[in-house]
Amino acid sequence: MAKIIPLEKAPKESGMPLEGAIKARRSKRAGWKHSVTLFELSQLLWSAQGKTADVHRSVPSAGATYPLETFVSAKSVEGLAPGIYKYLPEEHALEVVDENDATEKIGIACGKYLFVRDAPLCIIIVAECSRTTSRFGERGMRYIHMEVGSAYQNIALEAVALNLGTVVIGAFDDDAVKKAIGTEFEPLCILPIG
Ligand SMILES: Cc1cc2nc3c(=O)[nH]c(=O)nc-3n(C[C@H](O)[C@H](O)[C@H](O)COP(=O)(O)O)c2cc1C
Repeated sequence: MAKIIPLEKAPKESGMPLEGAIKARRSKRAGWKHSVTLFELSQLLWSAQGKTADVHRSVPSAGATYPLETFVSAKSVEGLAPGIYKYLPEEHALEVVDENDATEKIGIACGKYLFVRDAPLCIIIVAECSRTTSRFGERGMRYIHMEVGSAYQNIALEAVALNLGTVVIGAFDDDAVKKAIGTEFEPLCILPIG
């Protein structure tokens, strides 16, 4: 049976004005914090895909098809063992996917962006594209790419509100990422955070 780890209720409002977070956001590639807390991870995941009301989530989704799945590669998260986890928006919880630290594999999958290994955690967003293309045909791919942009911008702004930083990585070896996190879905972006 899948091991489930409940997350602290989110969101807790940071008090940072939205405009301040937009202005302060910059891509971060060095100077990572040594660790982040489980509370901070809870806030970041909620901003990416958390439920806001009945079926609604923190980002819009074409036809409410919700093709995105959010994975976490934890290296140094206080209160969470290193490993791979999948975010469950319904429960606001993590499902344990692999209890082995995959940081090195994800760093290598990012080729020249080896700095990914130095961050205390990575969020990896993947898509089960058929959820959206079965409804909208090939045009659904366009919708998926729009949706992931909303999700990663929310994460980037929430990171600022938590006094953390991130960068969205789009250049990586798809198959290596799939293998590292154990999914058949399409990896769309990786965000080292800290
Ligand atoms: C779709 C997309 C893909 C990106 N891929 C990478 C990447 O693979 N590696 C990287 O270091 N930065 C990547 N970036 C970050 C950009 O380089 C960065 O946003 C740009 O230089 C502007 O800097 P700023 O984010 O600090 O404003 C990507 C940004 C976007 C929007």
